[in-house]
Amino acid sequence: MIISTMDLFDVSWEQDYADRMNPELLTGLLRSTIPVLDHSGWAVDKVDEGFCQSVLPLNTPTTNQHGTHQAALISLSADYTGGVALSTLLRGVPIAGVHRCCEEDSASLWLASMNVKYKVPSSGHLTGTCRVDAEKAESIRRRYFCGKRVMVTLEIEFSSNGDQVAVAEMKYFAQPTKQLMPQPGSKNRSTLFSHKLKASARMIAGLRGRTSANPKLTASCPYAALSAGPHGELLADRLQNALPQLTDMVLGRTQHIDETIRDGDYRQVVMLGAGLDMRSLRHAAEDPEKVFFELDLPEMIDERRRVIEQFPEGHWDQRVMLPVDFRKDSLAASLAADRRFDASLPTLFIYEGCTMYFTESENENLLQDVHALMGHSESRIWFDVVGPEIVTGRTNQDSITAFLEGMDELGESFIFGVEDVGQWTQSIGLQSVHVLDSGEYLCEQDPVFSNYRFALVGPGDSAH
Ligand SMILES: C[S@@+](CC[C@H](N)C(=O)[O-])C[C@H]1O[C@@H](n2cnc3c(N)ncnc32)[C@H](O)[C@@H]1O
Repeated sequence: MIISTMDLFDVSWEQDYADRMNPELLTGLLRSTIPVLDHSGWAVDKVDEGFCQSVLPLNTPTTNQHGTHQAALISLSADYTGGVALSTLLRGVPIAGVHRCCEEDSASLWLASMNVKYKVPSSGHLTGTCRVDAEKAESIRRRYFCGKRVMVTLEIEFSSNGDQVAVAEMKYFAQPTKQLMPQPGSKNRSTLFSHKLKASARMIAGLRGRTSANPKLTASCPYAALSAGPHGELLADRLQNALPQLTDMVLGRTQHIDETIRDGDYRQVVMLGAGLDMRSLRHAAEDPEKVFFELDLPEMIDERRRVIEQFPEGHWDQRVMLPVDFRKDSLAASLAADRRFDASLPTLFIYEGCTMYFTESENENLLQDVHALMGHSESRIWFDVVGPEIVTGRTNQDSITAFLEGMDELGESFIFGVEDVGQWTQSIGLQSVHVLDSGEYLCEQDPVFSNYRFALVGPGDSAH
């Protein structure tokens, strides 16, 4: 007996249409993610299973010098019309970058290639239609829901004023997003995962390069804007628009760590998840005796090297870059790869902008590994952490929800927060030295800042 994939769904098409795939919802979501769709007035008009009809209006933003549609916009419309038709077949599955979702439950879709034939000039609103035939639809579903990558070519027809204007053949990939994440034991990560990783580090660099209206925030990083590049600037704009407090949060933590470095007598600084934070270059110039260890995933270390090579001075003799995956590698073994690391020296470990992306047990394992490396009573770890209500969205603040959605789209969902930082660190054997809510540091009363804390933690008694 052949079982159709249609028999396997928990959600009816009617429900899926209402929650995930209706034209109004899709138009809004796609326009907010892809501003050119908004600018052009592009809209999803009709949706059914294996079917999408869209409209690209003929208006000033969409036309060329002859007053007909620009070819590139027809291709853009083809991409999203076919993408929506394909998405309808993945019943109940949120689409990464479109719906609010996490890596565990979403599908990632991307366009691999296209072939568009332009037949006649389009001189009216342009209707794009994609219909997936039943056999192809069944094969797409079967592959996707068996956990296999789908590769499919869909045809999109464009017509206006009764003329067929263009025909596009769009080749898509579709795959469960979690398959794109690094698999335990595998050295190969997907291109998409690496892209998201770099995007997030660039976004933080973009925020770090900005200035604040808060007179308390005076520190600046001369390398940040170049590290961010246009990609980081763009993402920083997008997330800053969602959560206006974001720049001050990043500038606040940057400055607080700078002060921690200067106030202590640390001989070594270990940056855990260094990303594109260039503080090591700034502090190396100030203090030629300090050594900086910069740890991150191998692809981020490569990106970091590429960026730093553009700077006139890389302080290479004081900086050590070490590839490590906190989820599977030993921190001690990674640091031991460079003979300069000496656990008996006063060391500052910086775990900045990271706790929120790891699970509680991953954070605890990492902090315990750090604890084992605090061979000096003056060694410390600095980390930042959000309150649990930020992660669960219980703050009821639209700006926080919009920010978290933005982070989900970046593939960097917040998954960890803690209420009582002192109690948490003590429960894992560390001694909390100082916990400060960022609002206190920034002298600003704001529920977003008071749910974002800085912690400086020392070794507990058991280690010494
Ligand atoms: C949001 S960024 C923060 C970067 C930097 N600390 C800053 O504040 O600019 C998080 C960093 O954690 C790194 N990261 C994520 N997963 C990791 C893992 N499993 N092992 C090591 N680093 C990881 C990312 O590559 C990224 O650079």
